[in-house]
Amino acid sequence: MMLQRLTLLTLFVHSSLALALYDDINDHRRWRRGGPSIPTTGVPKIDDSKVFPDGCGCKGYILPFSIYAKPGEQTVQVTLPEPEVICSNYVKKSVNPPSNSKFKLGRHAITYSYWYEGYKRDLKCFVNFTVAACECPSTRTVKATVKPGETEASVSWREPEPTCPTNPSAQNPQNTRERFSIGKHTVTYKYTHIGFRMFDVKCHVNIAVTGMLVHA
Ligand SMILES: *[C@@H]1O[C@H](CO)[C@@H](O)[C@H](O)[C@H]1NC(C)=O
Repeated sequence: MMLQRLTLLTLFVHSSLALALYDDINDHRRWRRGGPSIPTTGVPKIDDSKVFPDGCGCKGYILPFSIYAKPGEQTVQVTLPEPEVICSNYVKKSVNPPSNSKFKLGRHAITYSYWYEGYKRDLKCFVNFTVAACECPSTRTVKATVKPGETEASVSWREPEPTCPTNPSAQNPQNTRERFSIGKHTVTYKYTHIGFRMFDVKCHVNIAVTGMLVHA
């Protein structure tokens, strides 16, 4: 019984909504056809006072986001997310540059334009993003000297974390201090960038160990 009443109520709400919507559509049609005051010339009349239909606009907005370029890359191909508009009855949509273009490092504000018949200007919705570099910190050589009577030197360094969100490889060194013999050494760290696309980044630490000059 209760359920039936609820269903009836829901039905009622739905049908009144549908009716309201139907009225709206009819109003719209009436308005589009125009009254005797609007001359029918065959060419859509431009309403100079308005840019786009009342109530039409961008549906919310797309949050600005960052896309990272691989180390050494200067551009990234970006698939643009499409803005949503409240009124889908636009006659033309344009975006320049189009989705999947290559974008340079830096900030970008892409304009999507929607033209509605009979209006003076277009509706603009933005897709804002930044193409940022993903790079290792500049490689500096860590220098150390072996103490007299020893064959190795204790060397410590900083982990060279890249400038983008990454997951470190499980094989990365666990310590940032080791003993090294005389000579040149390279410690390698591997990371995987996690974002709109995935790529690996390798960062190096160069180590140079020298023997102490012994003056006789
Ligand atoms: C996107 O960029 C445009 C143009 O610079 C600006 O007017 C708009 O406020 C920005 N939108 C967001 C959500 O940052």
